[in-house]
Amino acid sequence: MDAEELEELARRLQGRALGGWGLLQLAAGTGLAAYAVWAAVLMPGFRRVPLRLQVPYVPSSTQQVANVMVLLEGRSGKTVDLGSGDGRLVNLSDCYNVTVFLAPSVKPPLAAKFLAELPDEARVVAGRFPFPSWTPTSTVGKGLDQVWAYDMKEVRQAAQTSAEGSPV
Ligand SMILES: C[S@@+](CC[C@H](N)C(=O)[O-])C[C@H]1O[C@@H](n2cnc3c(N)ncnc32)[C@H](O)[C@@H]1O
Repeated sequence: MDAEELEELARRLQGRALGGWGLLQLAAGTGLAAYAVWAAVLMPGFRRVPLRLQVPYVPSSTQQVANVMVLLEGRSGKTVDLGSGDGRLVNLSDCYNVTVFLAPSVKPPLAAKFLAELPDEARVVAGRFPFPSWTPTSTVGKGLDQVWAYDMKEVRQAAQTSAEGSPV
């Protein structure tokens, strides 16, 4: 119900005692109007990811983060968490630790980008969804909290071996 319909409803109600049905209509109209204001004006202000990316912000659980930290323990170098920012481009060639908690559909193009850009010494830690065609170096946790570590040197060697073995 938009503002005009609300006004119309108010006009019709003027001078008339509100019965149960009228009260219900008024409550429903007010609720809908409040929701419209929330969705259009207030909610975008609370978003951590810009609306243009069409994805909601969903934080990792404390256990997921703890599992990621286990797999990155003792490592140094630049660390990036893909899917935590505002959509800015990230240059991966100097990243040594990359965490990704992203949907399975983005994993294949992301895998190709990692193979092309990450240094051999880089470690990728995937949360919730593993990389389907990569063999993890190690894994921690169970169910929704499971995370997988992939060392790029090993991933590259496996990709090369499989490419050499496939018919031309
Ligand atoms: C499971 S959450 C993890 C969020 C954060 N990295 C963390 O650990 O708390 C995955 C996040 O990736 C973001 N995301 C999903 N697809 C994206 C895309 N194509 N571009 C940018 N961000 C994306 C979502 O907004 C979501 O908040």
